[in-house]
Amino acid sequence: MKRKQERFRIIEERANVIEPSKAIYNCIKGNWCKDYFNNENPITIELACGRGEYTIGLASRFPDRNYIGVDLKGERIWKGSTWALEQNLNNVAFLRTQILNIEFFFGDAEVDEIWLTFPDPRPRKRDIKRRLTSPRFLAMYKKLLKRGGYLRLKTDNTILFEYTLESLQERNDIDDFQFTRDIYNDPLRPECFDIRTRYEEEFAAKGESIKYLRFRFKS
Ligand SMILES: C[S@@+](CC[C@H](N)C(=O)[O-])C[C@H]1O[C@@H](n2cnc3c(N)ncnc32)[C@H](O)[C@@H]1O
Repeated sequence: MKRKQERFRIIEERANVIEPSKAIYNCIKGNWCKDYFNNENPITIELACGRGEYTIGLASRFPDRNYIGVDLKGERIWKGSTWALEQNLNNVAFLRTQILNIEFFFGDAEVDEIWLTFPDPRPRKRDIKRRLTSPRFLAMYKKLLKRGGYLRLKTDNTILFEYTLESLQERNDIDDFQFTRDIYNDPLRPECFDIRTRYEEEFAAKGESIKYLRFRFKS
């Protein structure tokens, strides 16, 4: 408990964590490039980022792009923010918020790419609308994404993956849709850069195959 409080105190003082205690939290929408990154580079967001393995892994590979990890949990964000500082990554931020409120933080077409990394599967029927790939979330992502921007999902969870596949196959507003139920043995593998998250390591070690899909919204 003491350690947790200490980490919360640390992230309160860090510029690379945008959270409710900070003034920028309420005025960052539409202004990420101008007010945070000081460049015009494209933005990728990682939703349900946890410690932000994709945010950090991609930011170190692509210094000419900007990366923002989004999660509610301060302790996990503390870890990713620490990695970013250790690696001098100026193209990284972490945003602490409920993903349901994501439109409060990003303007229309402000984002070039979205990664959803191992979101909670919410397997119960009554929780379907809370899945991060349910229609109300997809509607928000569609607004945030620039024309042609990809949405990418990686998960171990069969229920969530099959649900998402079915939902997407029923839509008529998506393009360039590709998927695999076993990313480690599929030609799509290079798209994931062999970055592995904490949950991925855990479930892959238990023998779960790792699933991946990506698509773009038609304009
Ligand atoms: C299963 S973990 C995956 C974490 C990380 N992406 C990984 O693969 O190791 C799911 C993460 O989503 C976050 N999360 C779940 N629902 C959320 C929501 N509605 N808003 C923000 N974060 C959420 C949790 O705090 C947790 O860190």
